[in-house]
Amino acid sequence: MTTGSHHYQTYWVNSPRYPGLLQTLPLVYLIEDKRWIPRETAFMRGPDDVGRFVTQWNHHCIRCHSTGGNPGLDEKSGKLETRVGELGISCEACHGPAQQHVELQRALLKNPGLVGRHDPITNPKKLDHRKSSETCGQCHGVFIFRDEFAMQSAREGPLFKPGEDLHRARYYIQHPTETSPPDRQEDLRRNPKFFEERWWEDGTILAGGREFTALSASACYTRGEVSCLSCHSMHNSDPNDQLKRFASDNAQCTQCHTGAKFNSELSRHTFHRGESSGSNCLNCHMPHTTYALFKGIRSHQITSPGITASARHGVPNACNLCHLDKTLDWTQRHLKERYARVEIPLSEEQKTISAALLWSIKGHAAKRAIAAWHFGWQPAQEASGKDWIAPFAASLLEDPYGVVRYVTARSLRTLPDYAKFDYDFLGKPDTLKRQAQAVITLWSANQSTNATKGASAILMDAQGRLQHDVLARLLSGRDNRSVTIKE
Ligand code: HEC
Ligand code: HEC
Ligand code: HEC
Ligand code: HEC
Ligand code: HEC
Ligand code: HEC
Ligand code: HEC
Repeated sequence: MTTGSHHYQTYWVNSPRYPGLLQTLPLVYLIEDKRWIPRETAFMRGPDDVGRFVTQWNHHCIRCHSTGGNPGLDEKSGKLETRVGELGISCEACHGPAQQHVELQRALLKNPGLVGRHDPITNPKKLDHRKSSETCGQCHGVFIFRDEFAMQSAREGPLFKPGEDLHRARYYIQHPTETSPPDRQEDLRRNPKFFEERWWEDGTILAGGREFTALSASACYTRGEVSCLSCHSMHNSDPNDQLKRFASDNAQCTQCHTGAKFNSELSRHTFHRGESSGSNCLNCHMPHTTYALFKGIRSHQITSPGITASARHGVPNACNLCHLDKTLDWTQRHLKERYARVEIPLSEEQKTISAALLWSIKGHAAKRAIAAWHFGWQPAQEASGKDWIAPFAASLLEDPYGVVRYVTARSLRTLPDYAKFDYDFLGKPDTLKRQAQAVITLWSANQSTNATKGASAILMDAQGRLQHDVLARLLSGRDNRSVTIKE
């Protein structure tokens, strides 16, 4: 049996010791690369975290990767009689039990007199914005079963049907904010790891697959009526991102934000040309600050760009994820000028060195992965130029985290000279070093120093050459804390 369809697939084997228990094979298959890799190298997981990485289908994955999945635990014997309605995400996951619906519709064919009879099928589109989003949130959110329901769910399965109250049996967790009550603050103090593995330090979502958690912390949801179905459709969309077919990206937002400054007078709000990638609502309000599946994913916590979380906690912000060559100070000055934001003090580095470079060189592994992904993001390359990126990608080719190396290599291959660059992210350290060196050599040979003259924010000297000593100094200050993301 397998789990996963787009990026990689997990395979399952029967546990020899516990009949009925399915455990993960220690290998996963990368679909695009047509290649098997060790399972632990597929995830953002601290390199010092050397314990075995085996997970159990019956108790865990079954909840979101099957329909009507029931672990079937017998508490007395500890035996599992696991059953699923269907493997994979099927009709009843979103529409609820359909037997009566099918019977009614069959009966209707024979007896038109039944027309008008109540059909018990659920259509998420007809639920209010909370209930329809909760249909998706049963799988796309951070939750634990409430204590009194934990054993029941192990015996009986999901304890939720679309349209019902999702919060009855489950506790959905949000990152405490500065204004949260004291018991929530205590949650954070007592379980820092739980929060670190899923959120950035400022409480925006870090781990992919938690869109419901993120969206339901947004003003468009709490004060407005945005739902997953405002932007996604399950049956009339591109199967890759399941987005509705909008006339433009901005229409996802302007269906509600109808003011002139978001429409006919857009530049008044964005200060970019109308057709610029810097006038696309998503790029400023849903930046790719979520990580999973070897990529940056759009944050579903709809927030406004600012530099405070970047200055205080190093959380990447939308402006500097597109303007890769600019400092935090540059962003701060423009936010002040354009949006009358209040200035806050910045460190010398934040004033003089590109923010994205600082994340990619000195940041912890999640920041490095997000920065590395943006090195290959076309709008960022267009706004920031791409001739200078290669040597910084090179140092990430030797990163201690496999996923950072993988993401970096994919970004590097989007640069003109490196499309066919020979590199294997699972190579031995000395091979990685040699290949990283080859990138720098090639870059130095092809570089036009005219273009980078005096660009000190991206570590170029007055002649336009890379300041290797500064790069080395910054690298030695890298934040090497162990980072695990619960993707
Ligand atoms: C709480 C719900 C939940 C649980 C539990 C869960 N997953 Fe997932 N999983 C998701 C969601 C949601 C996505 C899609 C994320 C995205 O596209 O960003 C996903 C994506 C995946 C993918 C990638 C699919 C692709 O497109 O290639 C794989 C593989 C996967 N999960 C395996 C597992 C395994 C193995 C387990 C158990 C150890 C597990 N998942 C447990 C919700 C869950
Ligand atoms: C992941 C959730 C999900 C799954 C799985 C799913 N649906 Fe839906 N379905 C929806 C949502 C949401 C809508 C509302 C319209 C939309 O989003 O396209 C919907 C709408 C419908 C509609 C009404 C169409 C309309 O115009 O409103 C029918 C009929 C339907 N689904 C049948 C099915 C069948 C049959 C299956 C299984 C083969 C299925 N659905 C699987 C979420 C789902
Ligand atoms: C039963 C659990 C479940 C439900 C309910 C569910 N999803 Fe998912 N969703 C998943 C999993 C698991 C994946 C990853 C699947 C894979 O690639 O194998 C996924 C993938 C996706 C994707 C990404 C597709 C891709 O190719 O990366 C989108 C978008 C999505 N879901 C939106 C929704 C929306 C909107 C709803 C509610 C209408 C919903 N889902 C309901 C479990 C669920
Ligand atoms: C279904 C309607 C709806 C959609 C779609 C929607 N919003 Fe909102 N949004 C709202 C409402 C309502 C508010 C609250 C306004 C208020 O309190 O005055 C809001 C608030 C906001 C805020 C203010 C946040 C804050 O903390 O004060 C921003 C920024 C925002 N939306 C941006 C967006 C962007 C960008 C998109 C598209 C990605 C979007 N919205 C999509 C309805 C929506
Ligand atoms: C305001 C619009 C909007 C809303 C509301 C919204 N999404 Fe999305 N979603 C997007 C956009 C835009 C993308 C990125 C698509 C892309 O890059 O191709 C996306 C991508 C996704 C993905 C794919 C992530 C990946 O790349 O693997 C998933 C899963 C997802 N959304 C689930 C949800 C769920 C669940 C909800 C409700 C809780 C939701 N979305 C609400 C706009 C929205
Ligand atoms: C270049 C980045 C950028 C783009 C693109 C952008 N915004 Fe904003 N937006 C901001 C900033 C910065 C703020 C915060 C302004 C403040 O602090 O006064 C903001 C605030 C908002 C707010 C809340 C305050 C208000 O003015 O009502 C809404 C709603 C909003 N944006 C919607 C949108 C929509 C809709 C789009 C696309 C049509 C969009 N934004 C495009 C940067 C952007
Ligand atoms: C997705 C990419 C993208 C995002 C996000 C973005 N910009 Fe831009 N920006 C551009 C592009 C492209 C240009 C070139 C001119 C144009 O297209 O309007 C530009 C030009 C500029 C300029 C003028 C050119 C210069 O070098 O002096 C400033 C200032 C600027 N952006 C500030 C910001 C600020 C502040 C933010 C965040 C609120 C931001 N940008 C977000 C893409 C982006």
